[in-house]
Amino acid sequence: MQIFEPIREDLETVEREFARHIESRIELIPEIGRYILRSGGKRVRPALLLMASRLSGYRGNRAVLYASVVEFIHTATLLHDDIIDDADLRRGRLTVHSRWGNDVSVLLGDYLYITSMALALTEDSLDILRLLCDVTVRMIEGELYQLTKTGDVNIREEEHFEIIRRKTAYLFGGCAQIGALLGGVTREQEQALREYGFNLGIAFQLTDDLLDYTADETVLGKPVGGDLREGKLTLPIIYLLQRSDGRASDLVRQVVRERLVTPDTWREIAGLLAEYDVLDSAYTKAAEYAGLAKTCLQAFPPTRERDALMALPDYVLARER
Ligand code: IPE
Ligand code: IPE
Ligand code: MG
Ligand code: MG
Repeated sequence: MQIFEPIREDLETVEREFARHIESRIELIPEIGRYILRSGGKRVRPALLLMASRLSGYRGNRAVLYASVVEFIHTATLLHDDIIDDADLRRGRLTVHSRWGNDVSVLLGDYLYITSMALALTEDSLDILRLLCDVTVRMIEGELYQLTKTGDVNIREEEHFEIIRRKTAYLFGGCAQIGALLGGVTREQEQALREYGFNLGIAFQLTDDLLDYTADETVLGKPVGGDLREGKLTLPIIYLLQRSDGRASDLVRQVVRERLVTPDTWREIAGLLAEYDVLDSAYTKAAEYAGLAKTCLQAFPPTRERDALMALPDYVLARER
């Protein structure tokens, strides 16, 4: 995480802000809040917002506030997403719903969503508030759209990208754009930063979907192989279905029908993924978006701050957790 070094102090402040805003007289809220906080997390979205604000010349303390807001929104999403995906592990620990139950997890997610907006309201920038609402709504739409495509072996590549854009990329784009809005760059530079974040977000989600096939679970900190078992057909499987003969299709249909991946089935699928070279192709796609993100930064003169953002796409591609 060396690339986060220049913003380390700000990120530490974000942690403290997070802790401060989960205080409540309902003891369960800070209790679970601390559990989530201590579990870590990469803090990619706050980092992106902070780095974008630096690039935009901003030096005030509102960046830290909005960085906390986006981490709150992201955390709320994860609480709900882990119920939806029936995932029992997150950041190397039991998910909140596995430990405290779905009812608590749903309500805490709601609490974090509303608290995030209340936090944003302490600054009176309606533009930024509107942007935050907009990207959060798109994210929920993405999760819902994904549900409608669960187990659909006929899902098209473009439909899958629509899911990714909504559930992940718009929020990344929003983080970068907020940084730009704080700094007061030109309209063109603001768009460029938003595009940067958006493309970075796509690369991030494509990598996440790859890690679901390739990662070591203890390093990743969340279940490996869960996407297929849950009927989420991501780019590697979409490519496999495009390229292979009936065997892959039969296998995928079976897994999706039974919601079960035995070690034998997993081995066979891994063999097919290798045979048709689909993981490499999916990685190449992620790398394309990472490259697009870097290109967007050409709207800015070369500085240390720009170098820092230039390095983020490579980190996103290379990450193992
Ligand atoms: C997980 O996000 C959800 C996706 C968009 C893939 P992160 O990978 O940023 O999760 P944490 O916060 O680091 O745990
Ligand atoms: C990310 O999707 C969830 C959202 C961004 C809404 P995933 O379901 O792939 O995330 P993980 O793998 O559980 O972290
Ligand atoms: Mg999930
Ligand atoms: Mg995932």
